Amino acid sequence: MLLDGHDPDAIAKAADALAAGELVAFPTETVYGLGARADDDRAVAGIFAAKGRPVGHPLIVHVADAAAARTFCATWPDLAQRLVAAFWPGPLTVIVPRAEGVAAACAGGQSTIGLRCPSHPVALALLRAAAERGVLGVAAPSANRFGRLSPTQASHVVAELGPDLLVLDGGACEVGIESTIVDCSRDRAVLLRPGTLTRSAIEAVLGRPLENRDAAAPRAPGTLDAHYAPQARVRLMNTALLRSAIDLLTDPASEAPLRLAVYSRLLPPAGTVAIHQAMPARADQTAHELFTVLRHFDDLGAELIWVEEPPSTAEWDGVRDRLVRASAT
Ligand code: TXA
Ligand code: MG
Repeated sequence: MLLDGHDPDAIAKAADALAAGELVAFPTETVYGLGARADDDRAVAGIFAAKGRPVGHPLIVHVADAAAARTFCATWPDLAQRLVAAFWPGPLTVIVPRAEGVAAACAGGQSTIGLRCPSHPVALALLRAAAERGVLGVAAPSANRFGRLSPTQASHVVAELGPDLLVLDGGACEVGIESTIVDCSRDRAVLLRPGTLTRSAIEAVLGRPLENRDAAAPRAPGTLDAHYAPQARVRLMNTALLRSAIDLLTDPASEAPLRLAVYSRLLPPAGTVAIHQAMPARADQTAHELFTVLRHFDDLGAELIWVEEPPSTAEWDGVRDRLVRASAT
């Protein structure tokens, strides 16, 4: 059931459903989430079932503000406080020590918990309405079947999870890729998943370097596996390789793959490549449309997607991370 997320009655209905232990899909500025009350292990089990996600993968808990976040933590590290003060509400998840006996299923049994306050007005309205009903945290992974592309529009959620689910429609997600995840549980700040916040912006707030994950970093299954993949096979190519691959296709003697899609900053020769989509010049614009474009290629029946490697600068880290994962299958 698709409801207008800007309608206060829809928010009330969705908050009632969450309070009753039911699932609700809602927009955030990054991607759509599939929510359940974080303090209800049975409700949280419903998320794993709906997604086909292996249990034990920890979920991010969404909160209306930092005060609600602290109710889930054993300690609130200074590093987390700095990040939250600078970037919440927004596309940042912090991993902190979990309060004992709280949201165990949601945390996949780990001693840490991931927390995020999203900035999307529909998400915030829902989280505030849920809090009024005694629900201080909403566990929500991306609202897609396990291993698939995250949805960035309400229609994607319906395509992934079916028409029976209550979905709040908040339009197309502005950011378009999942939140930046920073582990603050061990007196250091470790980047577990890049997003659209730049490393330099994070380091300026921390006053120290943001470390890369090491062997002792908390398990973050969604950041390790081949993830974020469309059904088509994705191949990431540097500009020169892509250019010569396209040249090869312009050779009338060569046989082009039946359903090839290209997502690049290059202009392909007309009439050869089955589908071509120009990638925006800016990283944030590419992030915004990335999953929508890949999903569109899937819907058109593309079997192979060639993607031009994004520039190697830091602002492209989040997009590059998703593309490398998409091409790993
Ligand atoms: O932008 C986002 O973060 C979206 C929206 C809905 O908020 N959510 C999202 O959730 O991407 P999901 O479940 O698809 O990805 C959550 C990631 C996974 O890689 C998971 O392993 C990691 O967060 N994670 C969650 N809790 C964790 C914890 N306690 N320790 C380490 N990693 C954790
Ligand atoms: Mg996901």
